[in-house]
This record gives sequence, structure tokens and C-alpha cells, in this order.
Amino acid sequence: MHDSTENILVTGGAGYIGSHVVRDLGEQGYKPIVYDNLSTGNKDFVLYGDFIKGDLKDTNLITKIIKKYKIKSVIHFAAYIVVEESVNKPIKYYNNNFFNSLNLIKSCIENGVENFVFSSSAAVYGISEEFPVKENSQLNPVNPYGRSKMFTEILLEDISYIYKNFNYIALRYFNVAGADKKLRIGQKYENPTHLITLALKTALGEYESLNIFGTDYNTPDGTAIRDYIHIDDLSNAHILCLNYLKKERKSKVFNCGYGQGYSVLEVLNTTKKVTKVNFKTVNSKKREGDPPILIADSNLIKDKLGWSPKYNDLEFIINSAWEWEKKLKKGE
Ligand code: UFG
Repeated sequence: MHDSTENILVTGGAGYIGSHVVRDLGEQGYKPIVYDNLSTGNKDFVLYGDFIKGDLKDTNLITKIIKKYKIKSVIHFAAYIVVEESVNKPIKYYNNNFFNSLNLIKSCIENGVENFVFSSSAAVYGISEEFPVKENSQLNPVNPYGRSKMFTEILLEDISYIYKNFNYIALRYFNVAGADKKLRIGQKYENPTHLITLALKTALGEYESLNIFGTDYNTPDGTAIRDYIHIDDLSNAHILCLNYLKKERKSKVFNCGYGQGYSVLEVLNTTKKVTKVNFKTVNSKKREGDPPILIADSNLIKDKLGWSPKYNDLEFIINSAWEWEKKLKKGE
């Protein structure tokens, strides 16, 4: 279906989501060229292709790579992703997530890149009136992280309008969790912030208790609701996006979630069931910048790309992450 030796530039390809997509690219016969500064990524997570250590701000190096490897397609993950940190450090987020993305995209345009898959986020919706949210819903991001992603989407729209050979897909991820089936790669951060990861680490005794951030949201049990999606379904969506861009040459924006929301309490109950550990939780105040509810309407990606998720099961997702966390703890 595609030139099996085709090089695909993957920024942030040593990170959690990037490394799974690199795995799938390699398994599909593509050659990933991974560009990552290893600020949160792990070099040994890069299972296929070439690895180059570099920062997103180093446009000269990126340009050299695009030329050297004759890159036509880019999957752009490299970004900061912690919502609360973005509230406290807006410049850090706008600088890397927006400004450095702008320079990457500029280099792409100037050097003949045609296809660009962008890691966007459900955070672009912010406080939405619609559940589930559709791609054409009003964007109302409530933190600098979500705004930095929204601005980059707008930039891509404006650029693809005038540069007809450049097409993009912005994939709006909902809450990603779980790990590779063979447990080669998974989520590994020095300072994890994600709910499922922290809950599992608490079950393993790495933390004394888990904070429940906000118990008076306007939701049935008062805790915030998210749409949790397994990493392998999200990873597969990237491959479909890449193949679509190469074939159809059309820009698109897609949600990527299951359309099923779970509250923090529901996630914690399922985590306790999976781990069989009744870990301690502490009711805490809301985290700044957290929207109350984010649930995806993903009919568009199903219709246009034939995306058909396999792991729409919270228990399966948590169990997958649990296997990974146990392995990390053992230090294998
Ligand atoms: N939460 C807790 N306790 C914790 C950690 C999280 O109660 O210890 C709550 C949060 O307040 C939130 C929910 O669990 O309501 C999920 O929080 P995460 O930190 O796991 O995920 P976020 O929804 O904040 O953000 C994640 C990614 C973003 C992405 C977003 C899309 O980090 O990059 O999902 O929904 F944009």
C-alpha cells in the first residue's frame, strides 16, 4: 500500500504516545525518524527506525533532517502536556507548543513536507455545553495548554489553506492510558500527573494516598468526567490519519475517544477492583484549569477513516496500565 522504506519524521517519538505510534509505524513497514529531546521521553522506547536527540526549537537541525531523510510526512507529538503546569507557566507552553510548532511547520512548508499529523487535545474544548463534543463544537479552552493546541490548529488551518500541497490532520486526544501488550513501552514520567497512573502507583504503595481533585463538580457524583481511551486504539488512529493524508490529500480535524465518560470515582473504583487494593483517597480542591466533563463524539473518524476501536473497556485499560506499572516497579 505504501513505499515500505518511506521515512516518517516523528517529533516526540520517544514519549508515551509517540513511542506507541513509532512501534506501529515500524510494524506497518514505515521507517520512523524519531526526533526527541528526551525531556520526558525514553530513548529505549524507540523500537523502530532512527533516533536523533534534538529540541523542537532547533529548527536548523530539523530542517537538515527533513532534507537528509527526504521527509514527506511528519507526526508531531513533541509538546508539554500538563494542564496545571500550563496555568503556572504559560510562556513555557506557548513557546514550545505553539512557537516551536510554528517553526517546525514553516520548515515543513519550505522543504516539501506534504502530510502533517498533529497531536491536538480534548483540552481545546474546555468548558463545553455538549456531551459528547463534536469536532465543530465551539472551542473554549480554559488553560494555556488547551489554548496552545488550539492556536496551533488554527495555524495549520491557515497554512494548509494557502499551501495547497500541505495537508494536516489534527487529532484531538481524550484521556489516554494503558500500555503495549508485550509491555515493552508504556507511560513513564518522573513526575506523573495522570489519574490512572497515580491511582496504580498508590495501589503499589509508591504514594500514601490519592487526591481526588474536586468533589463538587456539576456531575452525578461530583467528580470530573473524562473519556479514557487505550493507547493502542489511539496509536492506530495515527496510522489511519497518515494513510488518509497520503491518499486523499485533504486536511481534517478528528476527535479520538470512545464516547463514554467515567467520573474520577468510577475510575478509582475500577482501579481498586483491578488491583484488589483498597488504597486511600483524599478529597482535595479542584486543580486549576480542569474542565468538568470531556467526552468525545468520534463518529467522524470512524466514518472517514474506518477507525474501529478494540479496547473500549475501562477495566481492560486499567489492567493494561496495571501490568505496566507492576513491571516498572520490579525494575525490569
Ligand atoms: N485527577 C484526580 N487526582 C489525581 C489526578 C487527576 O482527581 O491525582 C482528576 C483530574 O482532576 C481530572 C481527571 O482526574 O478531573 C483526569 O486527570 P488527568 O490528569 O489524568 O488528565 P487531564 O484530563 O487533566 O488531562 C489529560 C492530558 C491532557 C489532555 C487531556 C484531554 O494530560 O494532555 O487529558 O482530556 F489534554
